[in-house]
Amino acid sequence: MQIPEQGLSQAQIFEYLNLAKSYDMNWQDGRMYAYVYDPGQAAMEIGRQAYMTYLVENGLDPTAFPSVLKLENDVVRMVINLLHGDENVVGNLTTGGTESILLAVKTARDWARVHKPHIREPEIVLCQTAHHAFHKAAHYFGLKVVLTPFDPTTFRLDLEAMRKAITPNTILLVGSAPAYSQGVVDPIPELAALAQEHDLLCHVDACVGGIHLSFMRQLGYDVPPFDWTVPGVTSISTDLHKFGYCPKPASVVMYRNAELRRFQIFTSTRTTCYTLINPTILSTKSGGPAAAAWAVLNFLGQEGYRQIVAAVQEATARMIAGVNAMPGLEVMGKPDMCLFAFTSDRYNLFQVVDAMAKRGWTVQPQFAKPGAPRNIHISVNYGNVKRVEEFLQALQESVTEVSVKPPIQSEPLIAELKRLIEQQDPQLFQKAAALVGMQDGNLPKEMALVNTLLEAMPDEIQAQFLVEFFNQLYR
Ligand SMILES: Cc1ncc(COP(=O)(O)O)c(C=O)c1O
Repeated sequence: MQIPEQGLSQAQIFEYLNLAKSYDMNWQDGRMYAYVYDPGQAAMEIGRQAYMTYLVENGLDPTAFPSVLKLENDVVRMVINLLHGDENVVGNLTTGGTESILLAVKTARDWARVHKPHIREPEIVLCQTAHHAFHKAAHYFGLKVVLTPFDPTTFRLDLEAMRKAITPNTILLVGSAPAYSQGVVDPIPELAALAQEHDLLCHVDACVGGIHLSFMRQLGYDVPPFDWTVPGVTSISTDLHKFGYCPKPASVVMYRNAELRRFQIFTSTRTTCYTLINPTILSTKSGGPAAAAWAVLNFLGQEGYRQIVAAVQEATARMIAGVNAMPGLEVMGKPDMCLFAFTSDRYNLFQVVDAMAKRGWTVQPQFAKPGAPRNIHISVNYGNVKRVEEFLQALQESVTEVSVKPPIQSEPLIAELKRLIEQQDPQLFQKAAALVGMQDGNLPKEMALVNTLLEAMPDEIQAQFLVEFFNQLYR
């Protein structure tokens, strides 16, 4: 494809874009439990307009665009105050949970270089339920991840395992509020006390829960402590583009004080070009996300968020009760907010995911891991509230359909896959893709077989397979 010699008309461009969009999964009708957080049309429109108002302004230089700085500072302070931070707590707006976590980990590494200079090979300790972004950060910044198990009943991190995992090289302990997979909050006060005991930093990943849990607490729900009120917590990440219902990309990374945040900021003066000062990873960045987040937070107000959170919690409770009432399905642990996962000793859940997809519902399969069986994850947001009964009906129909379907014959394929892996077949990825019916990088309509084979692969092979797949996907 070439840039067209003659530009297209406005009408042609939008005809194309709107048609292209129609191939995507439909989130608008409330049957998708991921990717898009829908605060309702009015707030969505406010965010969109505010974003467009600042689309071309550049957050790179706060002296050139002081209004972008002001919007960012206002947004960050609103989140700090919601999470009960004092005037010493500081933060920045980032492009998402991943960037917030990357920055918190980089800050920990650079803090340790100054405060623990004897450490040559720094380690960060996290539970297996913590998000991938910590692994990515360790990979990017040359740190070792020490993984600890979770309690297989509550799915919360195992504090004693964490304690045992601390070595003289440890710099950072990580907890989640909540962890994505089963939606449970880790024991943050105990974790932060452990960090203090060993003079370590302690990051709370409240990317998912920071805003929702804070409003749940205001509504009188019993919310485990996770925020700035917990002594020993040194940094927190909280996403605005998830349960803050702000346009993407927007998250906040916060630090106990500016002393610590200093390690986040990067400057460069050693080139012939302009002096560079970057508080976050990006350099040039649109003012749109800051303006949009400012607009949505101000438009909804605390009362608006409480209404959303109350409705979402009420819907989640009905969904959890409905799932538990279906024989053969069981919700895992006791979810602390509006994320939950259910497992089954009766149905092939990968087939259930496909049966739901056929009916227009997007739910997420999660693979079996030691201590946690295969399960389906649901994140309920405001856009899903209107569909509780239909969801339960579709799930009932789906499990009924799967119960009379012949089981998928994966054993011969898994045996063939193992043979290919053992023989280190140079065509492993092409052959594995063919085994599950993938053609020219296109996924089959039903994903159960693909998921079964992926689940059966050792982690390392699975990672390589996914890299190959994405390497083909983007041209
Ligand atoms: C607990 C948790 N932390 C961090 C992230 C990363 O967020 P993002 O996708 O905005 O980078 C996620 C994403 O789902 C998450 O669930």
